[in-house]
Amino acid sequence: MTGQVINVLSIKGGVGKSTIVKLLSLVADALGLKVCIIDMCENSSIATGFFRDRDSFDKSAYDWFIGDAKPSEVIQQFEDSNIYYIPSDERICSFSDWVNKNIPKVRQLQTLCSKIEPLKKLFDIIVIDSHPTATTDLVHYAIAASDYCVIPCEVDKDAVNGAYRCCQIITDYQLAGFSIDYGIVFNKVDLGVKANAQLQQMKQSFINLGVPETKFLGNVRYSKTVTTTKNDGVMLNRTHNKYAENVMNDMRAVSDRITFALKQNEVEA
Ligand SMILES: Nc1ncnc2c1ncn2[C@@H]1O[C@H](COP(=O)(O)OP(=O)(O)O)[C@@H](O)[C@H]1O
Ligand SMILES: [Mg+2]
Repeated sequence: MTGQVINVLSIKGGVGKSTIVKLLSLVADALGLKVCIIDMCENSSIATGFFRDRDSFDKSAYDWFIGDAKPSEVIQQFEDSNIYYIPSDERICSFSDWVNKNIPKVRQLQTLCSKIEPLKKLFDIIVIDSHPTATTDLVHYAIAASDYCVIPCEVDKDAVNGAYRCCQIITDYQLAGFSIDYGIVFNKVDLGVKANAQLQQMKQSFINLGVPETKFLGNVRYSKTVTTTKNDGVMLNRTHNKYAENVMNDMRAVSDRITFALKQNEVEA
């Protein structure tokens, strides 16, 4: 499997989208896979999270999208890793306006697909950090270009609605003939007994809404190692750290499930 496009999708900010993007990339890197992260979030937290100042880039995803930069001018590499990324900035929000002005309606949904296509030969996995709102077309360009959507969900009753909305959006794409699948990752999971009961309740809410249990990709525990930039470095530099290792193991399990789903998808396609 090469050139698989994975979109980490949430219509709410703060649920761990960028974190899951980073962890997924770190897991893939550890497996020797070549990863390219496409940041489509205006605050470009992918770059910042991996030590680089978001203002230190001449060109970003926006320039590439509108044809003012070649991929080679926007792709950055994290030191000593197989992880590459395309930074973003606040201009990304106006990309849908640019598309409306410059691309015929019938081709608009394909805008990102055609941009990403040549990258598929260069990378094993392409991970998109999506824009955290359902009301911009940006989200739809990203979904239309993806093979799989990972939907992070916090353990909190209010989080069910946002994540379920994402499931519905992907289901609509499937019904429209797109070969795309999705799964939910429960993030910031507390390992205590009470919290576990709440998690089970939440899973039941999804099942009651018609989301099958097979869509649950696993849990990523809450850990302070995730919250500081310094510790992204711990993970990236593979420094021994018990807490970081636990989180990485959680993510490895999730990653295996995604790989399995992608293979199923290929067989069915
Ligand atoms: N598993 C986790 N454990 C602890 N903190 C987490 C975890 N996942 C995310 N966070 C923290 O939650 C905040 C929001 O996460 P982030 O990935 O930036 O969300 P989003 O990209 O969806 O806005 C960040 O401070 C991040 O460090
Ligand atoms: Mg983010």
